[in-house]
Amino acid sequence: MERAYYVTTPIYYISGEPHVGHAYTTIVADVLARTARTFRPTFFLTGTDEHGQKVANAAAAAGKTPQQWCDELVPRWKALFAEYEIEYDDFIRTTEARHVEKVQRVFELLREHGDVYLGKYEGWYCVDDETFWLESKLVDGRCPTCGREVQWISEDDWFFRLSAYRDRLLAHFERHPHWVRPRSVYNEMMSILVEGLDDLSISRTNLEWGIPIAGGGVIYVWLDALLNYITAIGWSEDEARFHALWPAQTQLVGKEIARFHTLIWPAILWALGEAAPELVFAHGWITVDGQKMSKSLGNAVDPFALARRFGPGSMRYFLLREAPFGGDFSYSEEKIAQRHNSELANDLGNLLQRTLSMLQRYRDGMVPSTPASSEFAERFAPLPGKVRAQIFELRFREALESVWELVTALNRAVDERKPWVLHKEGRAGELDATLYDLCEGLRWLAVLLHPVMPERMSEMWRQLGSPGSLHEDWTLALVWGKLAPKTRTSPGAPLFPKIELEAQP
Ligand code: MSP
Repeated sequence: MERAYYVTTPIYYISGEPHVGHAYTTIVADVLARTARTFRPTFFLTGTDEHGQKVANAAAAAGKTPQQWCDELVPRWKALFAEYEIEYDDFIRTTEARHVEKVQRVFELLREHGDVYLGKYEGWYCVDDETFWLESKLVDGRCPTCGREVQWISEDDWFFRLSAYRDRLLAHFERHPHWVRPRSVYNEMMSILVEGLDDLSISRTNLEWGIPIAGGGVIYVWLDALLNYITAIGWSEDEARFHALWPAQTQLVGKEIARFHTLIWPAILWALGEAAPELVFAHGWITVDGQKMSKSLGNAVDPFALARRFGPGSMRYFLLREAPFGGDFSYSEEKIAQRHNSELANDLGNLLQRTLSMLQRYRDGMVPSTPASSEFAERFAPLPGKVRAQIFELRFREALESVWELVTALNRAVDERKPWVLHKEGRAGELDATLYDLCEGLRWLAVLLHPVMPERMSEMWRQLGSPGSLHEDWTLALVWGKLAPKTRTSPGAPLFPKIELEAQP
């Protein structure tokens, strides 16, 4: 089987309703998957992390069994992803039999290979992050990651010999300096490694909501959760399929869970005889007033309301365009509206509308014949390759800036060539050439921006009357002059109607 582009998101705790942060990572994965699908086999996995104390507590507070609670909430998460035009290939729930059975098999294998041993865990636990903490790691007696209170745990647990993998991890980090990005996270993980690794408790005795271990207790939710990336794709079940996908090309995570994915995850994979993923990218947080947006901090924003207000396409655009991928960025409705109005409504939407209305007025709505030459053909020939490379380097902001060079050039062509003057002066050849360039440029934009704004770009494609598919390989689709003369356009409603923000009180 041909190796596929395999991209994953973290699986989300369903301790409540989703927020914009959860949509963010999944949108990024979707953009990667949609771009990859145009030229190679692709697999995009997301899902929900349903076991553990955090979810059990949330269910208990709602007066439900954990299973009932999860079954009721999963459709909300699926609805969120549908709302944001996310096309995953699989959605895994950790309560599904296909996952549970394999996690139990992993545990047995680790036990057989001597990678786990029984010991006593005495220390602190952060329920919100589902993380064990040694006293020495706490900050002012609180969880060093999220700052919340921790609880004391004393129980007999199974331990994974993580410390035994430290040297291999160090060698891996040294040999693959780009496998963890951005650099700041790589450095942070390196310094943890240099300091040394403790063995990891991988079971919970005093907890019922989890995958049962023969002999008692349940599997620690993080071991359970990390394994989703391989249980979903046929590990130990369908070797051909598994090896067509594993190791994953890109695993996206928020920076707060980089440690699990870059120090613990490879060690578990190696213990199973599998390879580490090729890239773990730890991105930054959407913040509100400088704090991470999170449900438990009470500053979470309802992603459904935002999609209704600004449109899922504009939200996707904003999230990718606002900050360099990797860094934190603050969220505000003013910023979303501003980008929507100036970049999407003015630069792009108006360009489409003006072009189609001039075509309607001067050429009966039909694309003129292909000009003998175009200043755009040579200038933008390298653009698709550049944009694709930037996307796979996860430099989304730069990719959109590159696309905007074409948007700007087309708008400038309207201003400089003044089609209405060409028409008035009867310069038919020049008018044809200009209108053709504008239509062809817009067709390119629909293709290039389709992974970012799938529905809006399909609508633009429809208005342009373009036959063929938006899913074609860019190297075939984006040849300047491919747009067929006499293509009949069908102007429609504005792509990005302007949004008025109410005046602040
Ligand atoms: N269940 C674990 C992950 C297990 S993966 C094997 C977990 N879940 S979570 O529900 O807390 O979601 C974490 C992920 O959601 C983050 O890593 C990040 O991708 C995304 N985000 C949650 N809040 C976010 C922001 N405020 N900003 C950006 N991304 C955010 O941890």
